[in-house]
Amino acid sequence: MGLTIGLVGATGAVGAKMLEILEERKLSIDTLRVFASQRSAGKKLEYNNKEIVVELLTEEVMKEKYDYLLFSAGGSVSAKYAEIAAEAGNIVIDNSSYWRMKEGIPLVVPEVNAHILKNYRGIISNPNCSTIQMVMTLAPLHRRYKLKKVVVSTYQAVSGSGHNAIVELENQIKDPNYPNKVYPKKIFGNCIPHIDTFEDNGFTREELKMIYETQKILEDSTIEINATTVRVPVFYGHSESVYLEFEEKVDVNEVRDILSNASGIVVQDNPVNNEYPTPLETANTDETYVGRIRKDLYNDRALSLWIVADNLRKGAATNAIQIMEAMEAMK
Ligand code: A2P
Repeated sequence: MGLTIGLVGATGAVGAKMLEILEERKLSIDTLRVFASQRSAGKKLEYNNKEIVVELLTEEVMKEKYDYLLFSAGGSVSAKYAEIAAEAGNIVIDNSSYWRMKEGIPLVVPEVNAHILKNYRGIISNPNCSTIQMVMTLAPLHRRYKLKKVVVSTYQAVSGSGHNAIVELENQIKDPNYPNKVYPKKIFGNCIPHIDTFEDNGFTREELKMIYETQKILEDSTIEINATTVRVPVFYGHSESVYLEFEEKVDVNEVRDILSNASGIVVQDNPVNNEYPTPLETANTDETYVGRIRKDLYNDRALSLWIVADNLRKGAATNAIQIMEAMEAMK
């Protein structure tokens, strides 16, 4: 018997990517149902060369039986419907930030902490896109050298803000006077150091997500993390400049070996030949790319590196589907 899967938010930027990836992967799926709001109910989507009709998301449909429900329809939809689905006995893999930091909710990057899913049923959270690619890189280094401090600045693509943001950048490229609606300022020709809302401590919620989610996944709240998250006029792929300080001395060649051997990571690090990852060149792939690996000039326990991944794939849809695959493999 194949799986019964429900996709909530199937018409959105991440939802569309989930459909694409479900088609690509080798999971045996018997039934795939797709849900969205009244705006899209009745619309037809394509899956495996067949049309599937978008159903209206209601409490009733969430109480039916699924092997997995994948949610990517924003925090308020997850807040309202994920629990209803889980209480009906379903496994929910949620891409919103709503459940991530709640006690008892697994927050999972499969290459790092899939083991916590053994025998679990209920809501599982997919981490923030910027967190996923950073934790992929940090985890194997933390195991070897023990992390003390992380300072990260991000360069985040507009697709992370959903379909309307992609359209806003496309329109501003054609007409620089096209008004900004999704972002607080024009994104074309610009960098906006403001993702999600500001908190009283001066950090944005996106920055705090990177801090607290990383500590939760690595199960170590003593790691000091400082983040500055920036939206840039790139369509697909987030980049991160990261400074890391460890308890132990680091060896850059060993760091390259550790990362090269880590599952899901590709090291592209030969700068004299222009080999370093960029979002344009790595978009539409599932790996996390690392380059510009260099030891700090003043501290032999510290290094800097550059991390790039496709935010809609490894940063969202791929990671969610890998969670599902990890759970299937544990059955
Ligand atoms: P809809 O097409 O009906 O608006 P994005 O992040 O790209 O903006 O996508 C958001 C996704 O979440 C879309 O599929 C959108 O569906 C869905 N969505 C938003 N609000 C609701 C809601 N109240 N109920 C169900 N789906 C929703």
